[in-house]
Amino acid sequence: MFPQDFLIGAATSSYQIEGEIYNTDWYIWEKLGHIVTGEPCGKACNSWELYEKDVQLVEEFGLNAYRMSIEWARVFPEENVIDFDALAHYKEYLATFKDKGIKTFVTLHHFTTPIWMYQKGSWENKEVIKEFLKYAYVVGRELGDNVDAWMTINEPGVVSVLGYFTGIFPPGKNSVLSTIRVTTNQLIAHAETYKLLKKLTPNVPVGIVKNITWFYSLNLFPLDKYLAWFINKLFNDNYLRGIRTGKLPFSQKRYPGLKGSIDFWGLNYYTHVWISQKLPNMAINHLPNAEKVTQTGWEWDSEGLLRAIQLLWDTLQRPIYITENGIATLKDEERVEYIKEHLAQVLEALKLGIPVKGYFYWSLIDNFEWLEGYIPKFGLAGFDHKTFERQPRKSGYFLGEILKTKKLF
Ligand code: BGC
Repeated sequence: MFPQDFLIGAATSSYQIEGEIYNTDWYIWEKLGHIVTGEPCGKACNSWELYEKDVQLVEEFGLNAYRMSIEWARVFPEENVIDFDALAHYKEYLATFKDKGIKTFVTLHHFTTPIWMYQKGSWENKEVIKEFLKYAYVVGRELGDNVDAWMTINEPGVVSVLGYFTGIFPPGKNSVLSTIRVTTNQLIAHAETYKLLKKLTPNVPVGIVKNITWFYSLNLFPLDKYLAWFINKLFNDNYLRGIRTGKLPFSQKRYPGLKGSIDFWGLNYYTHVWISQKLPNMAINHLPNAEKVTQTGWEWDSEGLLRAIQLLWDTLQRPIYITENGIATLKDEERVEYIKEHLAQVLEALKLGIPVKGYFYWSLIDNFEWLEGYIPKFGLAGFDHKTFERQPRKSGYFLGEILKTKKLF
C-alpha cells in the first residue's frame, strides 16, 4: 500500500509543452538542424495558451500533484529585463492548480537557457551563477505563495555531459574541462539558490532533480571500463559527492552551503546505458538481445529504479520524490505495464523504510522530446497537432485509480 499522503502526479517542462519560446539555446540548436525530424519545437502543445486544458487533464485523471517548470527566457527575455506579464501568467497557472487542491512542484531550470546567457558562455561562464540567482529571486518572490516544492536544476548531468562532453546537446562541446566547469557552476548556483529560496519561502521545500542512469561497460576492455567509470563520475558522482560532502569536483574545494543543500531528492529514472569508446557518441541504449525496449530504444530496467532510490538514500538521507519516470510507446497498455512495474519497485523501497513521498509520471502529455522531436509518445494524453485538442489515454486514469485505492492492482 502507498501511504495516505503519497503524491501521484505527472510532469512536464515549459519548453517542451508551452510553444513559441524563441529566445533559448535550444531554439538555436533546432535551427542548426540537430532535431532528427528536422522539425523544430514550434507551438509544441500550445500550453502557454491552453494551460487550463492541462490542468483539466490532471484533474480528470484524479492526480494530486503536478510537476512543471518556469522558463527562464520568458521571465528574463533579455539580461536584466523582467517580463512581468510572463510572471503574471505563471502566477495564474499555479493558482489554478492551487484552487483545485493539486500540489505544484516547480523546476527553475529544465535544460533551456536564455540566448543572452548562451551568448556569454552559458553554464560555462561563472556569471551564470549571479544571473540564475536574479531569476530565482524574482520567481521566488512573485510565485512562491502558490508553490509546494521547488527544484533548482533538472538533470544537471544531462546539461553538462550531453552539452559539453559528448556534445549532442547545446552548445555541442567536447571538453572534459568545460564539463567540470559547468558542473562546478551548477553546484554553486544550486547551493546559492537553496539558501535564497529558504529565506524567501521558508515553508517550501527545495530540492534538486538528479537523474540516475546506470552506465555499464559494453565489454571487458580496460579502456571501455574506464570510460564507463569516467562517464558515471561526470554524470552522477560529481553531483552526488558535491551535495554529500560540499566539495566541488576536480579542485575538491569546499563550497560553503553546498553540503546537504537539499530538503528532498528529485529522482528521474529511466534506464541504463552501455558504454564503449568504439560506439558513436560512446553509448548505446540496449543490447541486441534486450527483451523490453521502448520507442526511444531504452531498455526497461525497473529494478534499476530501486537501486537508484537506494543510491540517493545512501548518499544523503532525505525524502525522495520520483520526479520523472515514463515510457515512450505507441501502445498505451504497455505504458500501464511500465507504470505498474516501476511503482512495484517504489513499494519495495517503502518496505525497506526509504521515505519515497511521491511519483510523477513523465509526461502528462506527448511533447517535444528534444533531439527526437515529436516522434516519441511519452504522454498520459496525446494531442491533435492542428487543433491542440487533448486526447486522454487510459494510463492517465489508471494512475488516478492507484492514487485513489493506494494500491497496485
Ligand atoms: C528530461 C525530459 C525528457 C525525458 C525523456 C528527461 O531526461 O528531464 O525533459 O523529455 O527525460 O527523455
